[in-house]
Amino acid sequence: MKIGLIADLHVDRHIDLTPNDYAKVLSQSVRQHEVDLLIIAGDIANRNDIVVDFIQRLEQLTDITIRFVPGNHDLWTSEDQPSTAEILQRYRDMDECLVGSPYIINDAWAIVGNTGWYNYSYASSKFTQERLARGKFYGATWQDKERIDLPYKDLELAERAVEHTKEDLAKVGDRQIILVTHVVTHPQFVVPLPHRLFDFFNAYLGTSKFADIYHHYPIRYSVMGHVHFRKRLTDQDIEYICPCLGYPRQWRTADISREMTQTLQVIEI
Ligand SMILES: [Fe+2]
Repeated sequence: MKIGLIADLHVDRHIDLTPNDYAKVLSQSVRQHEVDLLIIAGDIANRNDIVVDFIQRLEQLTDITIRFVPGNHDLWTSEDQPSTAEILQRYRDMDECLVGSPYIINDAWAIVGNTGWYNYSYASSKFTQERLARGKFYGATWQDKERIDLPYKDLELAERAVEHTKEDLAKVGDRQIILVTHVVTHPQFVVPLPHRLFDFFNAYLGTSKFADIYHHYPIRYSVMGHVHFRKRLTDQDIEYICPCLGYPRQWRTADISREMTQTLQVIEI
């Protein structure tokens, strides 16, 4: 079975192309790679209605099973939108959402997913926890501070994400696991320090709290997004994969088909 992996599609961020164009291009890549099941590791769009429509459209076009975890952007709210908690519940009510509902592939394999949350662990130690909790650095504000309205602090969210992931891991027995998070869970996937901006903003990229999970559960693959890298790394028999499409300005070419096909990673189980 071939499983396709992709993250950070940001289908509403292109000047010329629509979310439907992204769905068409991704479905072509899925066909080209002969993928049987597709995992999206978060950040489909900035609005939940676009996220839901995109997944439905992609299912129509590909006719394969799709599973996703919401990214931080997928959870953003605004004045005319439901709260983040309501948006998360909307996703959880979908069959395609992995949060709270692991996907059992067969007797040997399962997919477990959670957005995860950052716990500031990858920032430079020169910043205090209070400063990082404010999210402001040289006139720039980490946008989750303004667009996420959950009633928990980041460090509480990071803890809760680990607990919820463990609850879902317990549901899949002793199967081998493909773990999907949106935020980064491995130190080699954040921006190398020192860095003018990411000394600070690395705080919001990942969590160190999943280390325990890798030690205690049979994780074989760990899929993540959020950092807009495209990178694979094997560490202690676990393959970490970060298959981010990212924003058009971050692409190497202007050709979406080429970028999509190069970004989509495939694992075979
Ligand atoms: Fe993203």
